[in-house]
Amino acid sequence: MNLNSYIRGVGSHLPARVLTNEQLSQTVDTSDEWIRERTGINQRYIAAEGQNTSDLGYGAALDALANAKMDVSEIDLIVVATSTPDLTFPSTATIIQEKLGLRTGAAFDIQAVCSGFVYALSVADAMIKNGSAENVLVIGAETFSRILDWNDRTTCVLFGDGAGALILSTTPAKNKNAGRGVLNTFIRSNGQHKELLYVDGGPSATQTVGKLRMQGNQVFRHAVKELADSMKECAGKAGYEINDIEWFVPHQANQRILEAVAKRLDLRRAQVVSTVAFHANTSAASIPLALDVAIKDGRIKRGHKVMLEAFGGGFTWGAALLEY
Ligand code: UT7
Repeated sequence: MNLNSYIRGVGSHLPARVLTNEQLSQTVDTSDEWIRERTGINQRYIAAEGQNTSDLGYGAALDALANAKMDVSEIDLIVVATSTPDLTFPSTATIIQEKLGLRTGAAFDIQAVCSGFVYALSVADAMIKNGSAENVLVIGAETFSRILDWNDRTTCVLFGDGAGALILSTTPAKNKNAGRGVLNTFIRSNGQHKELLYVDGGPSATQTVGKLRMQGNQVFRHAVKELADSMKECAGKAGYEINDIEWFVPHQANQRILEAVAKRLDLRRAQVVSTVAFHANTSAASIPLALDVAIKDGRIKRGHKVMLEAFGGGFTWGAALLEY
């Protein structure tokens, strides 16, 4: 039997606290002007004390279930993409599973940093298509504020906290215009450039959590090339050209990366969903957060083709083509 993985619903959850560039410039040697010009970021959300990645992911999961009009008991798999888990173990996915009151099915985390959501979607899609799961909550959730060095202006201005979720299902949405779901996914990695983007701590190496370190301008160069190539490859292997696709929902790292990739692929600015101004870089949460915005404000409609794409630490990168 040929199984499809349809997109039944989307959701998101952000912390209440907003930290503007202006506020940040009072404690860090930076300016609103520099951050906006170099990144397109105006503000970011910061989790409250005691508010963990699982709390944000749980909020996004509830929102997605409501959007899909599904009961939580229908979920048989939870995949959480995160690099900022609540604890070293158990997984944030099992913590969310318990918060949802679910004691059935399976739950696990995936760690591919900013590409995590594309990786998670790729695994969830494969598990639906091979018959291992029927209704999957795919969540990207992060509290990067906890691993930032707030004295390092080259990194602390770039990131924020949040979560987004998507429900993939063997059953199509009831809407008669609903698309065919995940058409193709493409994931890649290369560990050669680890020192350009990493966290300088971990349970085995240092027994600490560590802080994020990045040589941003070098990451930028690699990101633009790999993103453009992976989208072409992802579309091509599904039998499509880039200009068959209505919407592009990139990982939201930097407005200038979004524009450079769009230029390489000859995309119109209006086709590229950008939420970097108000979410900043939320790592694995950034794609589902942006997808949620563009679906709920009515831009992305049932039947539209949507390309997701991401690049992050590892390096990891990838793309996913959907028909919503
Ligand atoms: O999500 C995972 C993937 N991550 C990314 O994709 C991030 C990719 N990289 C970037 O987004 C950009 O490279 C940054 C936004 C991180 C930096 O922008 P840039 O245009 O590449 O700047 P730069 O690193 O080359 O730095 C230019 C200047 C430097 O000063 P000098 O050496 O020219 O005097 C920096 O010290 O800007 C300075 N600078 C700042 N100034 C004010 C760096 N950060 C700041 C800051 N405020 N926050």
